[in-house]
Amino acid sequence: MKMKNMKMKNMKMKNKKMKKNKFALISLTLTSFFLGPWALANEAILKGLEKEARSADAKFVQFNITAGEKFFRSERINSSGEKVSCMTCHSPDPKKTGMTRANKVIEPMAPAVNAERFTDMVKVQKWFKRNCNDVLDRACTAQEKGNFVKYMMSIK
Ligand code: HEC
Repeated sequence: MKMKNMKMKNMKMKNKKMKKNKFALISLTLTSFFLGPWALANEAILKGLEKEARSADAKFVQFNITAGEKFFRSERINSSGEKVSCMTCHSPDPKKTGMTRANKVIEPMAPAVNAERFTDMVKVQKWFKRNCNDVLDRACTAQEKGNFVKYMMSIK
């Protein structure tokens, strides 16, 4: 009798666990259905940058959309004496195409119109490194990178 009770209890616990897993699976499926799989990839990139920001600065709180837009739009004179900003190549409207200095088209930055944006951390980091150096003559901080991505993600 005692054995049987224990078995029942075990089974009930197993059942509960399965229900929980099932629930997690359903909510994940629903989220990707409503947001699209690329939105989940964007969130993953943001999470990765958040980790980077936290390890660079113990006082890190969160990324900021307004600061991201300001960063995107601020112009400065770089070491080659040119007036530059992120807008120089990416166009002032992130939903529109931009242009490299060699006049090659750059697809829009906003994930709302370009599902490929911020889905591959290697690509994201590679271009931050290159473009931050180009515009700021230094690397971007994790905070700046996260602000920028969060701003781009906020554009509907
Ligand atoms: C000299 C031109 C130029 C400037 C200035 C520039 N970019 Fe870029 N950027 C590019 C090119 C070219 C690519 C790669 C082509 C593509 O992804 O469409 C790119 C790609 C990126 C990507 C990759 C995004 C992804 O996941 O697809 C990020 C992030 C980025 N740029 C951020 C910035 C930021 C931040 C600034 C301002 C500090 C900036 N860029 C300024 C030319 C530029």
